[in-house]
Amino acid sequence: MAKENIVVGLDIGTTKICVIIGEINNSGGVDIVGIGISPSKGLRKGVVINLESTTKSIERALEEAELMAGINIERAYVGIAGGHIKCFNSRGVIAVSRKKHDEVTVQDVERVLEAAKAIAIPLDREVIHVLPQEYIVDDQDGIRDPVGMVGVRLEAEVHIVTGAITSAQNVIRSVNKAGLEVEDIVLEPLGSSLSVLSDEERELGVAIIDIGGGTTDLAVFINGSIRHTSVLPIGGDHVTNDIAIGLRTPNSAAEDLKIKHGCAKASLVSKDEEIEVASVGGRRSRSMQKQILAEIIEPRMEEVFSLIKNEMVKGGFDDLVAAGLVITGGMANLEGICELAEKTFEMPVRVGIPVGVGGLIDVVNGPAFATGVGLVKYGVQAKLEGRQGQFRDQKNMFVSILARMKHWFEDFF
Ligand SMILES: Nc1ncnc2c1ncn2[C@@H]1O[C@H](COP(=O)(O)OP(=O)(O)OP(=O)(O)O)[C@@H](O)[C@H]1O
Ligand SMILES: [Mg+2]
Repeated sequence: MAKENIVVGLDIGTTKICVIIGEINNSGGVDIVGIGISPSKGLRKGVVINLESTTKSIERALEEAELMAGINIERAYVGIAGGHIKCFNSRGVIAVSRKKHDEVTVQDVERVLEAAKAIAIPLDREVIHVLPQEYIVDDQDGIRDPVGMVGVRLEAEVHIVTGAITSAQNVIRSVNKAGLEVEDIVLEPLGSSLSVLSDEERELGVAIIDIGGGTTDLAVFINGSIRHTSVLPIGGDHVTNDIAIGLRTPNSAAEDLKIKHGCAKASLVSKDEEIEVASVGGRRSRSMQKQILAEIIEPRMEEVFSLIKNEMVKGGFDDLVAAGLVITGGMANLEGICELAEKTFEMPVRVGIPVGVGGLIDVVNGPAFATGVGLVKYGVQAKLEGRQGQFRDQKNMFVSILARMKHWFEDFF
């Protein structure tokens, strides 16, 4: 296997840590060649709070994936989420360099993105992504790729994702301690969107909701480009907790009940069905109506959906997502989740599973793998476009700064 064709995604989730190894094939697509999963113990609400246990889980997942693929991994594209993530839109304007008869060059595009990024952000935050939405050359808007166009003024509309420096550093540190280098850090909902959404949905307008154990992530695409992203620190763990308290049962039993018998809409469950519920403190287990379980889950999921709906209404996106909603992440497995979301959002809803990859597709064939597969796809795109991640090690950062300075000199002389 040629090493330069290998791209690795590392999804550090609150519930599970997942390493997915992809190999770029001859047709420019990607085949999954290895996967490793291990339970995650060191995160809360999407943020690393225990470095050591996170490192251990990464090591375990890595070992499993390496064994399956039969190769050693050195670097990975790593996901980031958590309530500290803040996103906003910005714009940059530059004069097109005169070097090529007013033709927009790759360096002009780099410069305009830098200009869009030049905004004041608090000292304790750093920019994770600058995602171009559209370019404007002179007065012509809606341009996706301005390179080669003629004009004197270049504008870029961008979506900027920022995160707390400490949270990003803790992710990097736990990955490094597990013996891996970080190729780049990628916002988790962006990863998920790459693996489950179709181009048509993105063009038409779509919102993707990734409901994991500790976070619920939202990304909105309109006219083919990303308009909004956010991460809410609430997820499947809260549902499990509600069940544990509501039914007075241990957390592990509550998690089992949710997975085996849970339903997001109480009206879909028949009144006659009974379930066995374990008790705490050595008491005997009890039998109760399955509908009671759904009655505990439904209000919590309604709360999650109404928080997301508020976000969308605040940004004015609720009327613009003509393709509706795509739900992914482990909680998308919950029975009745689409029905409940359709009622809350009053728009079409589907469950999103990773598509557009080859190889061992059976092992990643579930909504919980949307982020992991998406990270691989992000890496493949970056690799094919020759983009280098800003979070690569210091030595490489120095090389990329030198390369950028070379561009500046080229622009001047
Ligand atoms: N069949 C199922 N039915 C209901 N819930 C499920 C099912 N399978 C998994 N879940 C829930 O999905 C959640 C885990 O989802 P996922 O694996 O996407 O989380 P994660 O990526 O580790 O966490 P996060 O992205 O929030 O950091 C857990 O709360 C789990 O209980
Ligand atoms: Mg996740």
